[in-house]
Amino acid sequence: MEPLFADTAAIDLAVSLLHQGRLVAFPTETVYGLGADASNPDAVRRIFQAKGRPADHPLIVHIAHQDQLCEWAASVPDSALQLAAQFWPGPLAMILPKQPQVSALVTGGQNTVGLRMPNHPVALQLLAAFGGGVAAPSANRFCKISPTLAAHVAEELGTAVDLILDGGACQVGVESTIIDLSGKLPVLLRPGHITREAIAEALNTQVLLSPGIGTDSIRAPGMMAVHYAPTTAAVLCPTDQLAALAAQLSSTGQTSALLSYSLAAEAYGYDLGIKLPAQPEDYAHKLYASLRTLDDWQVALIVVELPPQTEIWRAVNDRLGKATKRASV
Ligand code: TXA
Ligand code: MG
Repeated sequence: MEPLFADTAAIDLAVSLLHQGRLVAFPTETVYGLGADASNPDAVRRIFQAKGRPADHPLIVHIAHQDQLCEWAASVPDSALQLAAQFWPGPLAMILPKQPQVSALVTGGQNTVGLRMPNHPVALQLLAAFGGGVAAPSANRFCKISPTLAAHVAEELGTAVDLILDGGACQVGVESTIIDLSGKLPVLLRPGHITREAIAEALNTQVLLSPGIGTDSIRAPGMMAVHYAPTTAAVLCPTDQLAALAAQLSSTGQTSALLSYSLAAEAYGYDLGIKLPAQPEDYAHKLYASLRTLDDWQVALIVVELPPQTEIWRAVNDRLGKATKRASV
């Protein structure tokens, strides 16, 4: 499946495919989504088949306007309206109690639904023209790295998707922040570009951290320890140990590549590598494409320089933690 440049004609085609219950991959500001009509159970079922994703994992419903919140959420608390006013369209998904008619396929059988208004002109044009909600997980196979280019979607999903709209590289580069507003206090389920502090400040309240972040036990697949993983084994390594690890790897004859942000790979003794910007938002923008490139090099081990353990790096650290869990030196 060749991606189609997302002009108005391509978007019109996408809208008619969605109405027919087909799958359309489209760009958002975070990552590419694999979209289907959220009110059509057969269409939603196709998402799970295409991704190879277990059926109990809920999907986010994408909407074009704040007014559509009440079509999907049984109650819309003030906190949701405040966050929507401040951050939508934008990289924030909200979990709210669901309307009774929202399919259990979309919610993974839960009594809540995830909602988001993405900030990308193609996504917004598509959603507005379609009119309804579009269920869209990231357009990758289950447990693989999310796509940030149309070409990534084509590589990964091939003919399992009916149309890929090409809207260029995703600006943010990591998935949306997910905030659960269905309980007394907001709970951060997935860190992202919009930080916990920004939400706490907007709502003037405490924002809890989900106890499940970084563990295997949780209902949201984005929260499993192993997720977003490259095929190649990968380890996180603190900056001051990078050179020693390079020496150890070369003494055992293992090929490796470094993903760094401080200095180029050669400076630490690695033959190959990618140096990302030392600023979290620019780093996030390039992270997934870089992991795909490192994976393509087919080295024995990908070494990732551990970023600063600070709040502004939380989303990046969360994704790196998941991408590197499987390996140990
Ligand atoms: O940035 C994004 O959110 C991208 C783009 C395409 O919009 N989408 C995305 O979807 O990352 P996905 O399915 O890969 O991740 C959605 C996350 C999952 O971890 C899912 O479990 C969680 O949202 N989620 C959805 N509905 C939920 C609910 N009712 N309760 C708890 N978690 C929910
Ligand atoms: Mg995903």
